[in-house]
Amino acid sequence: MTICETQEKILRLKRERDVCVLAHSYQSKEILEIADFTGDSFALSEMAAKTAQNTVVMAGVRFMAETVKLLSPEKAVYLANPKAGCPMADQLTPEALIEAKRLYPDYAVVAYINTTAALKAHCDVCVTSSTAVEIVRKLDNPNILFIPDKNLGDYVARQIPEKNFAFLDGGCPIHAAVGAADVSDARRTHPGALLLVHPECVPDVVRAADFVGSTSAIMEYAKNSDAREFIIGTESSIASHLQYACPDKRFHVLGKKLICPNMRLTTLNDVCYAVNGAGDEIVLPPDTMKTARKCIDEMIRLGRREARA
Ligand code: 13P
Ligand code: SF4
Repeated sequence: MTICETQEKILRLKRERDVCVLAHSYQSKEILEIADFTGDSFALSEMAAKTAQNTVVMAGVRFMAETVKLLSPEKAVYLANPKAGCPMADQLTPEALIEAKRLYPDYAVVAYINTTAALKAHCDVCVTSSTAVEIVRKLDNPNILFIPDKNLGDYVARQIPEKNFAFLDGGCPIHAAVGAADVSDARRTHPGALLLVHPECVPDVVRAADFVGSTSAIMEYAKNSDAREFIIGTESSIASHLQYACPDKRFHVLGKKLICPNMRLTTLNDVCYAVNGAGDEIVLPPDTMKTARKCIDEMIRLGRREARA
């Protein structure tokens, strides 16, 4: 079967079986083309609660499918490729967090959405890269235990100096793999190009950037900018998607290491199988469903009002 024939099969199966496909922006172009909705982690979680269909297929990584399930317990939610996890989400166990909370008893626990449902059950509020600053600023508690990404935490903390932050040792191994040397190389090779980076990058890279934002914010910035050339400091798929969207502009990837193997695992055929009912259905224990959902609801409540970066 060709890519086009497989895409047509998926579109037909979606109609016949009343299935919604959600795809994170890091997925391949052929998957994004057949998805009902694409976007960054926050946009996907907002969308998850709104879909009319009773079955949802997530083309992304496991924590994203879990978020859909938490927000829509009555729906059947499938992860298109069951092996697609997020190493950052698995870095911290609930037991380790319970231990850390003993050291920081008066702190609000703010969890990046890239965490397991089991971990979210022990947190006060979730944030995504596009909502973190705005949500943390709105919290009454001046003390914040920010988990698990200390790079994103550092970025948030520098914008909210009036609060006290504590971090644990965690982060995205892909974004953290590029450093100041990659910035110098890219600036030398592409003089005049704007550097747009994700806040999961290390502080040296974030500080050197012309713009810092979530996946969607980086894409919007590049599309709306008058500049013609950009260095993209996030998963390399974004530079490729932007090149299709803006053929008259030029996009370069900040470093060769910006490839997330987990985000690349899902194929168009995986989506086809999952839409046909053969994916991995997300099942969460009832008590986790209840407790973990609270911090996602809190994120949506606090993140909804203002336009996001
Ligand atoms: P956003 O979708 O919030 O930009 O996060 C990027 C990411 O690494 C998702 O796994
Ligand atoms: Fe996880 Fe990083 Fe891959 Fe996103 S890019 S899924 S945070 S490992």
